[in-house]
Amino acid sequence: MNVIIFGPPGAGKGTQANNIVKKFNLYQVSTGDLLRDEVKNQTQIGKDIENIISKGDFATDEIVNELIKNIVFDPIKKNKLIFDGYPRSLSQAENLDVLLSSSNQKIDFIFFLDVKKETIIKRLEKRKIIEKRSDDTMITILKRYDTYMETTKPVLDFYSKKPSFFKINGDVKIEEISGKIEQILSV
Ligand SMILES: Nc1ncnc2c1ncn2[C@@H]1O[C@H](COP(=O)(O)OP(=O)(O)OP(=O)(O)O)[C@@H](O)[C@H]1O
Ligand SMILES: [Mg+2]
Repeated sequence: MNVIIFGPPGAGKGTQANNIVKKFNLYQVSTGDLLRDEVKNQTQIGKDIENIISKGDFATDEIVNELIKNIVFDPIKKNKLIFDGYPRSLSQAENLDVLLSSSNQKIDFIFFLDVKKETIIKRLEKRKIIEKRSDDTMITILKRYDTYMETTKPVLDFYSKKPSFFKINGDVKIEEISGKIEQILSV
């Protein structure tokens, strides 16, 4: 099965994806992590990305689509993908549909983690202290939230019409959310 975990910054996408990966033997695809890896490995593309994400902006669709394509067409990962933090724009969502259907795959489950803005701010301020992510300053947290509302919300409208869409309350305890998701995936 292929799964998408969707939601605003700090909603707990990475946290929930980590759990599902372990329990269901999937490969986690986090474009945030893929992009940060490029930066860490000081690749040419990484240098462009560093400028973009430290400002709280999105990487271009071109960069992201290229990174995703390699993974979707990897035979080892076929039908074992869990996307976390991707797609973030309507064009990325449409591109993913094309990549999946041309490799004879589909999205089986889409989970939307619904979380209040106040919760997001609290969680990300805490994460900043623990993980020291360069994009977790108050200014970029607010900017990422605005970018999400503008660019990513249309993806929610696109996915919410699909039968594989599930809206999950993300404002509760980590274990409670995991339990709900696991229950749906185990049916
Ligand atoms: N249900 C929860 N209750 C309390 N804290 C949580 C919950 N889920 C995640 N967190 C914490 O909130 C922070 C953000 O979670 P996480 O990194 O999983 O979010 P994300 O959706 O992947 O964010 P981003 O879009 O910025 O990558 C982390 O520090 C995580 O430990
Ligand atoms: Mg994340």
